[in-house]
Amino acid sequence: MPLVEARNLPAHVGIIMDGNGRWAQQRGKGRALGHREGAAAVRRTVRAARRLGLRALTLYAFSEQNWARPEEEVDALMELLRDFLLTERGEILGNGIRLNAIGNLGRLPGLVRAVLDPLRRESEGNEQMTLTLALSYGGREEIAHAARVLAGEAAAGRIDLDDITPDALRAQMPSLTVGDPDLVIRTGGERRISNFLLYGLAYAELYFADVLWPDFAEADLHAAIASYQRRERRFGLVPAPREEPSERRPASITRIAI
Ligand code: FPP
Repeated sequence: MPLVEARNLPAHVGIIMDGNGRWAQQRGKGRALGHREGAAAVRRTVRAARRLGLRALTLYAFSEQNWARPEEEVDALMELLRDFLLTERGEILGNGIRLNAIGNLGRLPGLVRAVLDPLRRESEGNEQMTLTLALSYGGREEIAHAARVLAGEAAAGRIDLDDITPDALRAQMPSLTVGDPDLVIRTGGERRISNFLLYGLAYAELYFADVLWPDFAEADLHAAIASYQRRERRFGLVPAPREEPSERRPASITRIAI
């Protein structure tokens, strides 16, 4: 298993879980089986993230655009989601995990809301890790919603146009209440973002893995984090001059704004 350092962990990891359909197709099975194995990978990954001590994990489980898939596949995904919430309830509550959900939740069927809403409330006070499920989620939609809220405030005279700043927009985005993502992983071999966490991605490190999501294992999560830990994040600043390590100087970047 790749070595992960206990310090310098990404606080917030996002995952685009891609490849369920191909996983099933390779075995001559229907897509629903791929999603079922994908749900098993979700369980493994949540446990692995909790074991590592990540503060926040955001999983792209269903995009706003996924509603256009065949009804049968959408129904199968909604049932898997409900089963996941039912079977993982004890694990979530018992391990200090706060369950959250982002996206256009009003579009979710009652069978999902009936288990999602109570679990969100029950786990509200948990502080070890926030598990956010992006459901009926779209990054552009989230940005547009935040813009509408601020435009409404401005139109009502409650804020000035100058108050519409990057931070004010961020404050309206539920995906970023746990902070910007530090690392975003995409499985399944494609190298694209597919409308995930767009606003928060500004300085995220991206990691693309060829493994199909149902095969994603703890070692794959460790490999992604080990890769993140080898990178130098500069946030638009310049690299620090080389010098002897000092305990009073933990950051490896010099704060000179450009
Ligand atoms: C993308 O694979 C995956 C999805 C659209 C759904 C993700 C859902 C799960 C992992 C299972 C249920 C979720 C939870 C939280 C229990 P794809 O179908 O687009 O794969 P393909 O690109 O190979 O066709």
